Amino acid sequence: MTRYGGPEVTELRDGVPEPSGGPNEVCVEVRAAGLNPVDFKTREGKLKIIHRYRLPAVMGNEIAGVVESVGVGVTRFGAGDHVYARVDKDTMGGLAEKAVVHEDHLAKMPTSLEFETAAAVPLAALTALQALRDELRLRNGQRVFISAGAGGVGTFAIQIAKHFGADVATTASPRGAALVRRLGADTVIDYTHERFEDSLRDYDGAFDLLGGDDLARTFSVVKREGSVVSIAGMPEPETARRDLGGGGALAALFWTVSLSTRWSAARHGVHYRYLFMHPSGSDLETLAALIDAKKVKVVVDRVFPFAEAKEALAYLERGKAKGKVVVQMSR
Ligand SMILES: NC(=O)c1ccc[n+]([C@@H]2O[C@H](COP(=O)([O-])OP(=O)(O)OC[C@H]3O[C@@H](n4cnc5c(N)ncnc54)[C@H](OP(=O)(O)O)[C@@H]3O)[C@@H](O)[C@H]2O)c1
Repeated sequence: MTRYGGPEVTELRDGVPEPSGGPNEVCVEVRAAGLNPVDFKTREGKLKIIHRYRLPAVMGNEIAGVVESVGVGVTRFGAGDHVYARVDKDTMGGLAEKAVVHEDHLAKMPTSLEFETAAAVPLAALTALQALRDELRLRNGQRVFISAGAGGVGTFAIQIAKHFGADVATTASPRGAALVRRLGADTVIDYTHERFEDSLRDYDGAFDLLGGDDLARTFSVVKREGSVVSIAGMPEPETARRDLGGGGALAALFWTVSLSTRWSAARHGVHYRYLFMHPSGSDLETLAALIDAKKVKVVVDRVFPFAEAKEALAYLERGKAKGKVVVQMSR
């Protein structure tokens, strides 16, 4: 990425210096890299207030590959290990032949997956796990509403919620309805024909993947004292303190931008939280165990060769992917 802007600011470049790892870091030969909306949002400069990259920067936020070498202090990985990670937020760097990852953010790949399937897991699955387990604290028998169930995060969220024993309602267009049902959704609402708030009531919690008007309407399907966790709405003061380690200024800014959302939540007696997921090797171990135990399937929509990384991002950007979009490195 050479500057902030549209697709024209990205290019495939040869001769980019290899990243050099330091203590507690692992150098990974990337075999596949997953794509996420954060990639084009970063390119557009929408996240500049949180992450500013020295340009040109190597894009890409999640990888699967083979450990090439380890830095001083690395104890859990060795050359040749098959690993996957949501790469460090401050560096990105997944869309390249080599990437450097802190060992705390890395885990061994699920043994049952190929690289291009494993690369689809880290960012979206960590987000779903952290939202449902840590924020909504979903328990057996509870009812949860998950919007946009057919996308990258949604396909993991439905399955993880079912694993926790929850009853799941989700929204999908006719293009995604069969998929979300197959993944375990109990109630599927066709958002192209029906407003979900007309039929859903008194849910214990909701996981919002859309923000905007959908988030505003989500508050009315959750019972009083319930919680709505969003990853696409407005960040609020807790986001600044807990997820970004930010000081009072960022918290104050988020207080302002989230005012109407928090007011809407309060009117419905519902707790609102905006989550920024965090990289975590130990959570990736949890996910690898769920995947190897066949509790969670990885849904990959399309795999593009590295030479078509730009087309891959454009495809994701259309917002219609069913599951994940992945870029495979040539070897
Ligand atoms: N805060 C964080 O830490 C964090 C982490 C991960 C993701 N996110 C954000 O979460 C959002 C979702 O990410 P993602 O990876 O799941 O995106 P995605 O894979 O691009 O989502 C695409 C899916 O959304 C569905 N969709 C679009 N509009 C919809 C609507 N109105 N109702 C129901 N479904 C709809 C589409 O289904 P149809 O084709 O059938 O319409 C498609 O299957 C993005 O905004 C992303 O930036 C935030």
